[in-house]
Amino acid sequence: MNIILLGPPGAGKGTQSQRLVANRGMVQLSTGDMLRAAVKAGSPVGLQAKAVMDAGELVSDAIVSALIGERLDAGIGAGAIFDGYPRTAAQAEALDLLLDERDAKLDYVIELDVDEDALVDRIEGRFTCANCGEGYHDRYKLPTVAGVCDVCGSTEFKRRPDDNAATVRTRMAEYRAKTAPILPIYEARGLVHRVDGMAPIDDVTRAIAAILDA
Ligand code: AP5
Ligand code: ZN
Repeated sequence: MNIILLGPPGAGKGTQSQRLVANRGMVQLSTGDMLRAAVKAGSPVGLQAKAVMDAGELVSDAIVSALIGERLDAGIGAGAIFDGYPRTAAQAEALDLLLDERDAKLDYVIELDVDEDALVDRIEGRFTCANCGEGYHDRYKLPTVAGVCDVCGSTEFKRRPDDNAATVRTRMAEYRAKTAPILPIYEARGLVHRVDGMAPIDDVTRAIAAILDA
């Protein structure tokens, strides 16, 4: 089963992807994570992407679609969760082609329906474990033991450089202008399911499970 999680920055795509990985053995294909890894490694893609990401704008379609193609070839276990991809009409077309070439198809597009004003608050409070990547939030999801990752026990955490108010506003504008317009493509194919992304994290997980298990 292959699914797209669609929603603006901070909608909870990464949070819900991690749960689908843990609960169903699916594989998370996050272009944001792939690009951050490239930046960290100082690869040519990373060098090109860094300034664009720091500004909150979109990296080129060719770069991200190539990253997705590589990851599909590395194997997708029980299925792929596309997290933060596709983000433009050109990427949606590229994904169709990438899946076709591998005799695979899209089964669901889950739209996380959220209130954009509340998202700035979510994003500004976000941090992750520097070791295993588990996501946390200053108010909504603190580690059970202060300063210690629930998953791996690490005491090192990090925050993203693009998680400041000004960049978040650009990221939201990019979503509205370039990503939201791809929804009708999938609506026309009957693939879109809407989930209330403002509900508590566990409720969102249950709502997604109800769709996938229907
Ligand atoms: P990317 O990494 O994809 O970032 P994003 O889309 O801005 O999404 P986020 O990771 O910010 O949010 P999320 O929806 O995953 O929310 P999360 O679960 O973390 O992209 C970064 C950049 O890379 C882009 O700006 C672009 O430059 C580039 N890029 C990436 N992909 C690209 C592409 N395809 N094409 C071109 N460029 C690309 O949740 C947020 C916080 O809220 C967390 O703290 C979480 O704990 C909390 N939270 C989650 N759900 C809930 C809930 N239900 N209630 C309360 N709190 C919650
Ligand atoms: Zn950890």
